[in-house]
Amino acid sequence: MVSKMISSKFQVTSFRGYLISFFLTSLIFSLFYMSAFFKTFNNVTTLWSSKPLVIPEPSYPVRFAYLISASKGDVVKLKRTVLALYHPGNYYLIHMDSEASEEEHSEIAEFVPSYDVFEQMENVWVVDKPNLVTYRGPTMLSATLHAMSILLRKASEWDWFINLSASDYPLVTQDDLILAFSDLPRDLNFVQHSSNLGWKVNKRANPVMIDPGLYSLNKSEIMWADKQRPVPTAFKLYTGSAWTVLSRSFAEYCIVGWENLPRTLLMYYTNFVSSPEGYFQTVICNSEEYRNTTVNHDLHYIAWDYPPKQHPRLLGFRDYRKMILSHRPFARKFKQDHGVLDRIDRDLLSRQNGEFTTGGWCYKRDNSTESCSGLQREKFGLLRPGTGARRLRSLLRKTLYTDDFETRQCK
Ligand SMILES: *[C@@H]1O[C@H](CO)[C@@H](O)[C@H](O)[C@H]1NC(C)=O
Ligand SMILES: *[C@@H]1O[C@H](CO)[C@@H](O)[C@H](O)[C@H]1NC(C)=O
Ligand SMILES: *[C@@H]1O[C@H](CO)[C@@H](O)[C@H](O)[C@H]1NC(C)=O
Ligand SMILES: *[C@@H]1O[C@H](CO)[C@@H](O)[C@H](O)[C@H]1NC(C)=O
Repeated sequence: MVSKMISSKFQVTSFRGYLISFFLTSLIFSLFYMSAFFKTFNNVTTLWSSKPLVIPEPSYPVRFAYLISASKGDVVKLKRTVLALYHPGNYYLIHMDSEASEEEHSEIAEFVPSYDVFEQMENVWVVDKPNLVTYRGPTMLSATLHAMSILLRKASEWDWFINLSASDYPLVTQDDLILAFSDLPRDLNFVQHSSNLGWKVNKRANPVMIDPGLYSLNKSEIMWADKQRPVPTAFKLYTGSAWTVLSRSFAEYCIVGWENLPRTLLMYYTNFVSSPEGYFQTVICNSEEYRNTTVNHDLHYIAWDYPPKQHPRLLGFRDYRKMILSHRPFARKFKQDHGVLDRIDRDLLSRQNGEFTTGGWCYKRDNSTESCSGLQREKFGLLRPGTGARRLRSLLRKTLYTDDFETRQCK
């Protein structure tokens, strides 16, 4: 643990040096891609580089651990999102909350063994004691922390934890994501945040509430206390997006809690409405050790109505162009089997229904370039990134390589 802490400090202090090398490697990669682009320029939809990129040992440069949460009525969406996100180098934990029916739980329990590659790689799991989750309540946060601890315990190699729901969908392939993240310092945490609470002082920080999901068998609405509480003075409150990409080191910090901060804040947030939008923000920005690792971005494309309603707008064809131009790797939320998902599958993921997003790892039926049907052992470790890697790299470069990078941290 100590050596881990020292090495994370070292990485933070050498951040500027890293930025320069990041810029240089990006330049080299863009040259590498360009040759592939020009060849296939008229076929704008699938710009595959002609030669797969070979990673020396049979492994991947970075690995992701996903939590994919779902509730009643989400089974179809959940399966599709899992297949679109699947990659043999990553880890996947599925959480169906306790509101989902028996049939839905068993449908997901049967879904996992039905794919050979899930069995071969043993990297897809289902939380076997589902949690009761109250929307906006701390039970949602505890389900996320539960998942982080399962993933830390079950898999020792992952680099980043990503929290998604069945209504999310990727806009890049996993090969793209792996390549784009491969030269980032492993201790970066993508946590969109701000200390400018605005209306949230009145609506979030002052009210005190209780989530009956913590002690009741049945789901019910959160309860509000009559009294209000003042804004904390022992730490500074932050708020932001509930969608985060967290480093393994920060996940350990939150779960193991060798400082008391993650623990006391968890207790504080027990009575805070919409705690998933503030907990990780407040922990990371009040931690001397981790605040410099914060990247103020949530990597999600989310569209809100004007004025914003409680839930984001459902995405459709009219959002497609903006989604791509945003260069973000994930988007939400989508209606089950909406046509725009078919378009994303075809044009961005090279995925056919019922199969996996394409990648360097897989067996392709009839030598087609489309879709992955299963794992081809000798291809494990190969990356075949597409245009998504270039889009994502450009977003990461823009976010990390700016003069105001540090001034945007925890302000
Ligand atoms: C919880 O819900 C079940 C089924 O809806 C019902 O049978 C049971 O009485 C409820 N329990 C309580 C304590 O309300
Ligand atoms: C994690 O994902 C769920 C979606 O299922 C989301 O609602 C929640 O707020 C996210 N974040 C945290 C910190 O739990
Ligand atoms: C974080 O950055 C600040 C300002 O650049 C610096 O003073 C501080 O020592 C850094 N903290 C760590 C733990 O590296
Ligand atoms: C696939 O390609 C290989 C060589 O590239 C060839 O030998 C084989 O016959 C092809 N299979 C099909 C089904 O086209």
